[in-house]
Amino acid sequence: MAKGMLITFEGNEGSGKSTQIKLLTERLQAAGRQVTSVREPGGTGLGELLRDILKNQREGVHIDPIAELLMMNASRAQLVQEVIRPALKRNKIVLVDRFFDSTIVYQGHGRGLDLDLVREVVKVAIGSTLPLQTYLLRVPLETSETRRAQRSIETGHARDRFEASERAFFERIERGYDTIARREPDRIRVIDATLPIEEVHAAIWSCFPKPCKPSRG
Ligand code: TMP
Repeated sequence: MAKGMLITFEGNEGSGKSTQIKLLTERLQAAGRQVTSVREPGGTGLGELLRDILKNQREGVHIDPIAELLMMNASRAQLVQEVIRPALKRNKIVLVDRFFDSTIVYQGHGRGLDLDLVREVVKVAIGSTLPLQTYLLRVPLETSETRRAQRSIETGHARDRFEASERAFFERIERGYDTIARREPDRIRVIDATLPIEEVHAAIWSCFPKPCKPSRG
């Protein structure tokens, strides 16, 4: 029987992660695999409550970067225990929209928290549950900004607490992703997500789950 595997998706806002997870899920299911897909923060009852607090700005409520780090990882610990490990035990493929790399990049590089401290907290949350492969969907900051603005108009929702951050924050996020991708080229596959949706999907599929060359971009 095929073995379970954990695959994660990363990228800045508007990089198309959820669309690609949906396409990959359909393709894997068509190939006879059982797939569980979840998002972070969230994916459990507790996680979705934390997501609401983390994403939606409330008047008079300030979230300190350390508190943010701990809440992201409380959501993650619950997800690992409640969903990811049981699914892997049942030999499912688990696709996660953001995982610990988001914490390294957003709370570490973005908020400026000490990277060793961030890694320690992540370790508490995930233990030995590590992704076999991570797809980093790459779009330039300008594309991300345009897509974010578009989404806000389409959904009628105001930008969330992260989306409302200043450009310098997103520049640090972009550099953070570049840094982690350079450090772990075998695990982290950089995909040019400016390409049409079907081509991005083809690039993801072509290296699933074996090693592949990074696409251009
Ligand atoms: P999204 O689901 O729309 O991508 O929103 C999740 C937001 O949370 C996104 O702006 C990135 C941020 N985030 C962190 O800051 N740290 C984390 O560990 C995770 C998982 C997400």
